[in-house]
Amino acid sequence: MSTTFDLDQLVRPNIRALKPYHSARADFSEGLLLDANENSLGSPFTEDDELHRYPDPSQQKLRNLIAQWRGVRQENVFVGVGSDEGIDLLYRIFCQPGQDRILTTPPTYGMYSVSANIHDINIDEVLLEEETFQPRVDATLDAVAPNTKILLLCSPNNPTGNLFDAERMTELIEQFPGIVVVDEAYVDFSSEESWAQKVAKYPNLVVLQTMSKSFGLAGIRLGITFANEEIINYMMKVKAPYNINKLTAQRAVEAFKKLDTIQFNTEAIRKERKQLRDKLNDLKAVEKVYPSNANFLLTKISEAKKVYQKLADRGIIVRYRGDEPLCDGCLRITVGTPDENERLISALKEVTA
Ligand SMILES: Cc1ncc(COP(=O)(O)O)c(C=O)c1O
Repeated sequence: MSTTFDLDQLVRPNIRALKPYHSARADFSEGLLLDANENSLGSPFTEDDELHRYPDPSQQKLRNLIAQWRGVRQENVFVGVGSDEGIDLLYRIFCQPGQDRILTTPPTYGMYSVSANIHDINIDEVLLEEETFQPRVDATLDAVAPNTKILLLCSPNNPTGNLFDAERMTELIEQFPGIVVVDEAYVDFSSEESWAQKVAKYPNLVVLQTMSKSFGLAGIRLGITFANEEIINYMMKVKAPYNINKLTAQRAVEAFKKLDTIQFNTEAIRKERKQLRDKLNDLKAVEKVYPSNANFLLTKISEAKKVYQKLADRGIIVRYRGDEPLCDGCLRITVGTPDENERLISALKEVTA
C-alpha cells in the first residue's frame, strides 16, 4: 500500500466533523436507570428478560468473542445489521453523493450497486476474466478515477463461487488508492484462510463477514466488518446508536458456544457440494458446473431460463443468473440437504428430458 495513504483525507468532510449521538447506555448500564426513558414496568413478556432496556451500543461482549475467534483485536471489529449495513456505512463514510465513485468487478453481489444507487454514488465496473472469474488487476487499476473511493471484491465470489487469487488481491490492495472491501460472506466454505487478520497490515483493507451463511443465522441479521481501528471508529460514529438489538446479540453470543455444530454443518455442506456437483455433471443438459468455494454452484445448462421456470413450477426454486455478465445460461443453485439435492436432481432430469 502506498506510503501516502491518508484515511482522513478519504473520509467525507461532514463525517470527519460529525459529533455522534451520545446514547444513555454508553455511560451507565447498571444502577437505578432513570436516564433513557425506558419503560420502568418492564417488557410485556417476563419480568427478567431485560428487553425494556436498550442494548449495549458498542456490543463489547459480542465484538470480543468475534475478535478472539478470528484472531484480531476487538478494536478491529464492527457488528452491523447484516453485511449490508457494513456496505451502507462505508459508502456513507467515504463517498460524497453525486460526486464520488466505487469500482466493482461483475458478475458480483448485487447489493454493492443497489446501495451505491441509493446513495447516488457513481459505479464503474471492470468485468472479471471470462471463465476463470478472476479480477483483472491492470484493467481494474486503470479504471480508477480521481474520485474513486472504494473497490469491492467478493471472495468467494457470488454468483460464481470462486476464490480470488491471493496474489492478485494483494496487488489490488497494495495499489488501489482507496478502500478495498473484501466480502467474505462465504469464506468458511472455502479452502483458504480469511483476510481478516490482514487488516493489521493494510490500513485500507476492510473485510466483510456475516453470520448469515456458515453460522446458519441469516434470520438474526448479524454482519461483521474487520478493519483498522480508525475505520471501525468511523463506523461506530455513523451507525444508528442501537443498531444491534438484544435478541440478535444474545443469539450471536450463544452461537460461539455452538462452534462445533457450525463447523460440522459447514463441513457437511462442503461434502454435499461435491456430491451435488458430480450429480449435476452427470446430467446431459448440464454444460458446466463451475468450481465453488461457497455453498452454491454456478451451473451452465441448456435453456437455463426454461429450466428455471419449470423447476419453479414444481416448487423448486433456484436463482437464474443468465442475465449477469459472463453468466450466460447459468443457474445459481444453493447446496441443499441430501434429500433436497435428490429432489432437485430428479426434477432436473424430468424437465430436461
Ligand atoms: C457476497 C455476499 N455478501 C453479503 C451477503 C449478505 O449478507 P448479510 O445477510 O449479512 O446481509 C450476501 C448474501 O447473499 C452475499 O452473497
